Amino acid sequence: MGTVGYAQPHEKQLPPDQPFIPYKASEMPDRILMSITDSLAQTRTITWRTSKVVQTGTLEWSDKITQIDFYRDANRVNARSERFVTYTGDTVYYHTATLRMLKSGENYVYRVGEGDMWSEWIDFSMPTDEDAFQFIYMGDAQNDIRPLWSRVFRKAYAAAPAADFVIHVGDLINHSQNEYEWAEWFRAGDFMLAAKPQLAVRGNHEYVKDEKGVKQYSTPSWPHQFRYPPNGPSSLSNGAYFIDIKNCRFVFMDSNDALDLQGQWLEQVLKYNTKKWAIVVCHHPVVSATEGRINDGVMTRWKPLFDKYNVDLVLQGHDHVYARGRIPDSEGNRIGPTYVISVAGRKAYAVGNHPWMEVKMGNVQTYQLVEMSDEAIVFKTYALDGHVLDVFRIVKRDDKPVVEDN
Ligand SMILES: [Fe+2]
Repeated sequence: MGTVGYAQPHEKQLPPDQPFIPYKASEMPDRILMSITDSLAQTRTITWRTSKVVQTGTLEWSDKITQIDFYRDANRVNARSERFVTYTGDTVYYHTATLRMLKSGENYVYRVGEGDMWSEWIDFSMPTDEDAFQFIYMGDAQNDIRPLWSRVFRKAYAAAPAADFVIHVGDLINHSQNEYEWAEWFRAGDFMLAAKPQLAVRGNHEYVKDEKGVKQYSTPSWPHQFRYPPNGPSSLSNGAYFIDIKNCRFVFMDSNDALDLQGQWLEQVLKYNTKKWAIVVCHHPVVSATEGRINDGVMTRWKPLFDKYNVDLVLQGHDHVYARGRIPDSEGNRIGPTYVISVAGRKAYAVGNHPWMEVKMGNVQTYQLVEMSDEAIVFKTYALDGHVLDVFRIVKRDDKPVVEDN
C-alpha cells in the first residue's frame, strides 16, 4: 500500500494547495461510518480513523438514551485496529467495532475513541419487526462533493429521517486515493454517515488506473472503511456482498472487475433467494442512458441472470443523468427488472435516446426514497425542492415483477 508508481497523474491524487477543510488524521476520531456486516435486524458495524498516535480504539454504547447520565455506565466494545499508509505517505489507523444482539425497535447511542479523545454521542434506532421499511438511494457524488453534493444528502436525510439505510451506487469521489476528496465526502455526510448504515458499491473512480487509464486495483482504504458481509468473492474485498433485509435480498456488485466470477456468484445468490424481492446495486448501467457509453460486460454476463431469477429493480449510476425503464423484448413488451440510473452530484451528461428509457431527465440532482413492503416496492425520485419527479410501483404477479406507473 501507499504510493504507487504507475498511478493516474500524480497531482490528481493530491489535496489542493489551499484545502478548505482538514484532511489529515488526528488523535480525534474522524470518518465515522456505520455499516452492516451481517444483519440489518441485529448488528451494526462502525469504522473510524485516527492518526498513528492512536493505535487502538473503543466503542462505548448505551440503550438508556433518555437518562441524562447514561454515559456513566456505558458498555464498551474493543475495536479491531489496522495500520494503513495513505497515498501521500501518512500512517493512519482504521478501527472497526461491531455491536451485536441489538433489539428491534430499540434506540441506542454510541461514541468512538480512546483515552481523552472521543467523538460526540451518536443516536441510532433499530428497525421494528414490521414488514415495511424504507431506504435512500443516492447516485454518484464525485465532484465538488463538499460544496454541492452535501445539499442532496442533507435533503434526503431530512426527507426520510426514519429511513433504515442509504445505498450509494459508486463514484463517491473523483480520484480513488485522493484523501482530500474522501475528506470532502465524510465532511458532507457528517453525522448522517454514522447514524444509518451506508451500503456502497465501487464505481470506476474508486479504482486506481495506470498511465493508459487501465484499472489496476480498487481504493486501498476501501476494505478498512467500508465493511460488509464477507459473503461475496473474496478477491473483491468488501466490493461484492448480499444482505437479506426483511422481505428483500439486496445484492451489491462491483461492475469494474471479475464480472464472470461475480456472475457465477450472483447465480447462486439469486437461485437460493428465499425473499419475495430481489434488488441489485451496481455502478455501471446494464443499459446506458447516454450516447456511446455501452457496458457490454454487465449486459452479457449479468442481465440474463437478472431476467432468469426475476430481479425486480437494478440501481445504478455512472451516466450522470436520471433514467428509468424496462427493456422491451423483440415484440415490444417491457419485461424484467426496472433499471434506474441517477446522479446526486453536480456533473451532468447529455441524455441519450434509447428505447428502454420510459422516464429520462438531464441536468438534475436527485435523491430517491424507496418504500418496501410485502405488497409492493414504491419508488420515488425527488428534486431538491421536494417535488416528486418520478414515481412508480412494482408488484409481483406469478413471481415476475410488474410495474404500475402512478
Ligand atoms: Fe462512473
